[in-house]
Amino acid sequence: MNNNTNRHFNLTASQFEWSLSPGRKIQAWGFNESLPGPVIRVTQGDTVVVAVKNDLPEPTMIHWHGIRLEPPMDGTMHVQDAIMPGETFEYRFNAIDAGTFWYHSHFNETIQLERGMYGALIVEERETELATDRDRVFLLDDMKLDASNNFTRGSSFTRWKERHDGREGETILINGREHPEIKMHAGQTERWRFVNASSARYVRLSLGNIPFRIIATDGGFIEEPIYAQEVLLTPGERVEILVGPFSPGESFDISSLPYNRFTFKKTRAASFATVKIGNIHPTINRVPRMLRRIEPLTTRDAMITRKVKMSVGLSWKRGLDFKVNDALHHHDAPVQSGELQVWEIFNASMMDHPFHLHGFFFQVLDINGERPAFRAWKDTVNLPPRGKVKIAWMPDDRRGMWMYHCHILEHHEAGMMGHFQVV
Ligand code: C2O
Ligand code: CU
Ligand code: CU
Repeated sequence: MNNNTNRHFNLTASQFEWSLSPGRKIQAWGFNESLPGPVIRVTQGDTVVVAVKNDLPEPTMIHWHGIRLEPPMDGTMHVQDAIMPGETFEYRFNAIDAGTFWYHSHFNETIQLERGMYGALIVEERETELATDRDRVFLLDDMKLDASNNFTRGSSFTRWKERHDGREGETILINGREHPEIKMHAGQTERWRFVNASSARYVRLSLGNIPFRIIATDGGFIEEPIYAQEVLLTPGERVEILVGPFSPGESFDISSLPYNRFTFKKTRAASFATVKIGNIHPTINRVPRMLRRIEPLTTRDAMITRKVKMSVGLSWKRGLDFKVNDALHHHDAPVQSGELQVWEIFNASMMDHPFHLHGFFFQVLDINGERPAFRAWKDTVNLPPRGKVKIAWMPDDRRGMWMYHCHILEHHEAGMMGHFQVV
C-alpha cells in the first residue's frame, strides 16, 4: 500500500457581488464567492476529490485543464451530464503531475468564464531541489463591462466582431483585482505561477524588461531554467518563472506587451499590477542547474500520423464559422492507445489560435520549420496565422472520448473543436 492521501474540497458555484477595485462592483459568477475561485493546492500523488455544487441559475460542469485524469472526470458534454441547478457532482482524480493547472467551467463558457468561473489548481512536487522564498499564483484575465459594470452583449455587429476576435475587454484583472500593488522583499527570489484565464487576450508577459527565469510551462518543470525578458501566454497556457532578487526601493509592473493576433480590435499594452520592493530579507533560495529530464517522444522528422486543419470562413447563416478539418465540432477518427501520435496542425486562417488538447501532454516538435526554444510538456500551444505546428503525444490506456479545441472561447463555441476516442 502506498500512502495515497485523499484531499477533499468543496466548490459552490454561485452569483455574488465582487469588487474589482474600490467602488467598482460586478455581479460575478464563480466559486465560493471568490474571483478567482479558491486555489486548490495539493501534492503530487494525492487523490483530489472536489464536490462541485451548482447554485447558479443554469447548468454547469467543470474541466480540470491539464490534468491527466480519467475520461468521466474531464468535465465535457461528451463524458458527463451537466450539473443542474441545485445538484452536486463529485470529481475525483489522481494528481500525477506536478505543475500549475487550472479549473474552469466547460459549459456556456463564453458567459461563465467571462463572469469568473475559474481558479488555480497547484500540484506541488513531491521532491525537488528547487527552493524559493515564496510561491505565488497569478490568474490573468480581462472583462468587457459597460459603464454600469454589467456584462453587456452589445449590438449584433459587436457580437459578430466578438465572435471573430474573441471577447476582450478593457478591465484588466490579476487574481480578480484591477491593478493591485504587490509587495515583495528585497534579496529574495520568488516562484510566480501564471495562468492566462482570459477568453481571448494574448499576454506577452513582461516585468518591465527585467530578466526572469522560466522554470515550468503547462505540464510542470522544463529541463533547466531559461533566462527571458518576456514570454507569450495564450489563453489556457501557464508559465512559472523565478523573479528576483531585487534591491530595496525597486519597482516594476507586471504587464503585457502589445501582440497583434490579426483581429479587428488591436490589443494594446496592458498593466496588471505594480510590484514594489521593500526592505531586505534573508533568502533560502536554491536553484538547481537541472530541474528534471524530459525524454523526447520522437524526432523532429517523425512521420505525421494525422493532419488537423483549423480554419475560419464566412457563413450565410452564422456570419462566421470556425472549423476543424472543414467541419463544425469535427468528429475525428479514433486513436489507438499505445500508438505514438504525430500531428501536424495547420492554421489555414489569417489569425492566431491557441490549440488545446484535453487530458494528455504533447511535445512540440516543430513550429513553421523551427525547433521550439526548449523541450516542454504542453497542453496548449499557439498556432501562428497560416502556420504549421507539429506535435507528438502518446495516448495511454485511458480509453474514452477526448477533445481538442481553440482556447479562444468564442472560437471554441463557434465550432473550432474536434473530439475523438482513445480505443
Ligand atoms: Cu481549458 Cu476544453 O479547456
Ligand atoms: Cu483542457
Ligand atoms: Cu481560435
